[in-house]
Amino acid sequence: TPVPPFDLVIFGAGGDLALRKLFPALAQRNREGVLPEESRVLAVVRKEEDVEGLPRQIAQRLREEGIPADQVETFLRRLTMVLLDALKPETYTSLKKALGESERVRSFYLSTPPDLFIPICENLAKAQILTPTSRVILEKPLGRDLASARQINDAVARILPESRTYRIDHYLGKETVQNLLVLRFANTLFERSWSSRDIDHVQITVAETVGLESRAGYYDKAGHMRDMVQNHLMQLLTLFAIEPPNMLEAGAVRDEKIKVLKALRPIVGPDVQRYTVRGQYGPGQIDGQRVRGYAEELGHASNTETFVSIRCELDSWRWAGVPIYLRTGKRMAQRYSEIVVTFKPVPHSIFGNGTCDRLDANRLFIRLQPNDGVQLQLMMKVPGSGRLKIVPRQLDLRYSTAFDERTPDAYERLLTDVIRGDQTLFMHRDEVEQAWAWVDPIIAGWQDYTPHPHRYAAGSWGPSQAIGLIERDGRSWADPDLV
Ligand code: BG6
Repeated sequence: TPVPPFDLVIFGAGGDLALRKLFPALAQRNREGVLPEESRVLAVVRKEEDVEGLPRQIAQRLREEGIPADQVETFLRRLTMVLLDALKPETYTSLKKALGESERVRSFYLSTPPDLFIPICENLAKAQILTPTSRVILEKPLGRDLASARQINDAVARILPESRTYRIDHYLGKETVQNLLVLRFANTLFERSWSSRDIDHVQITVAETVGLESRAGYYDKAGHMRDMVQNHLMQLLTLFAIEPPNMLEAGAVRDEKIKVLKALRPIVGPDVQRYTVRGQYGPGQIDGQRVRGYAEELGHASNTETFVSIRCELDSWRWAGVPIYLRTGKRMAQRYSEIVVTFKPVPHSIFGNGTCDRLDANRLFIRLQPNDGVQLQLMMKVPGSGRLKIVPRQLDLRYSTAFDERTPDAYERLLTDVIRGDQTLFMHRDEVEQAWAWVDPIIAGWQDYTPHPHRYAAGSWGPSQAIGLIERDGRSWADPDLV
């Protein structure tokens, strides 16, 4: 479906996310000619000086992204600056005036801290800015625990129905994440073996090399569990494990995702110590450069975790007995995100000793970044007429070589999905709340059992306890250099 004419209002337009992701994504879509002629982007700012300053910053950012100068100009012509204080209802008249009486689809992107979600929605309603088709986009984090997430969801629900509330998790907009569903449900080969019958265990790694960046205020209060696990990691796990929805449609997909989240075995009390590891990076080296530890970057000591590893299990018919190991952190050895599916070994080897060290199990690597693609590890015979020799080798499908098309940034897809009214790649309130219900007891358990995170050197794969978590089960983390 084509994108209908729209007005997209961005609250927090001068923030990091808007500058780094939202404006470049919109400018790309504009460049591709996907945005209808009369559509506009309204950037909400609180300070007078930003009315002139922000468009300059946006232009610079777009040029850095490689958008040609004439295209930057064309995009800026769609931009309307709106001066408004989100907490002051009387200032919303400026937005009302800017929007006018148009029939265009109105979308309000709240790229702000979550404590502003409720006042903004209430003020939009009070100022009678919301039309019957208006929608609101909520950026993560959606609260900081189940109680605050419910409070936000309830308050927003009093103003807008669920069908017009878009909770964004940008991982759902990533090509490889969307391809998870295609891989499973468009290929009989995989779906037939997607269960405890053939799968031994699953690993999900989301490793970053960046540290605090400029987000100390938010990140130190949130911690890695709230920043990455409650949303991105749990969404990956859920899409990996869902039952086949009967069609690719928002309601059907969301219903299946909720069932997976409900099947996640709770980790509470002493199990928190047994099945989870939290870490914080100390000084170390990334790409040969010395980097500071978390506390030094922050300027003071802190017990906030920058790394989390969890051994999860799903209590369901399909997945009983298949551990899913999660691992994610800042300042790790490589920027690398991947789902690794390890299949069960062959039941009996017909090959005598000396043909190979061992028959490795088949492994499917679903690589999110970098070099996104899919690899399948098979055991193969080494050519030669001498003694039989068997080694693991990869069937290797990289997006960059398999397709000519450019891989769009996640936000490009998600922003136009909102305007088109497609909620498939957005989170239902029940998903968000269910994820918090699983995460809350772990965070509570940390207070009791591991108030001090384990140290790991920046540039490593996390604390040794995370290696212990999987090795205790006789398994090991897949080596990213393998692929
Ligand atoms: C964000 C987190 O949601 O995702 C950041 O708040 C993190 O801390 C980022 O760096 C990672 O996203 P990506 O797309 O770079 O993997």
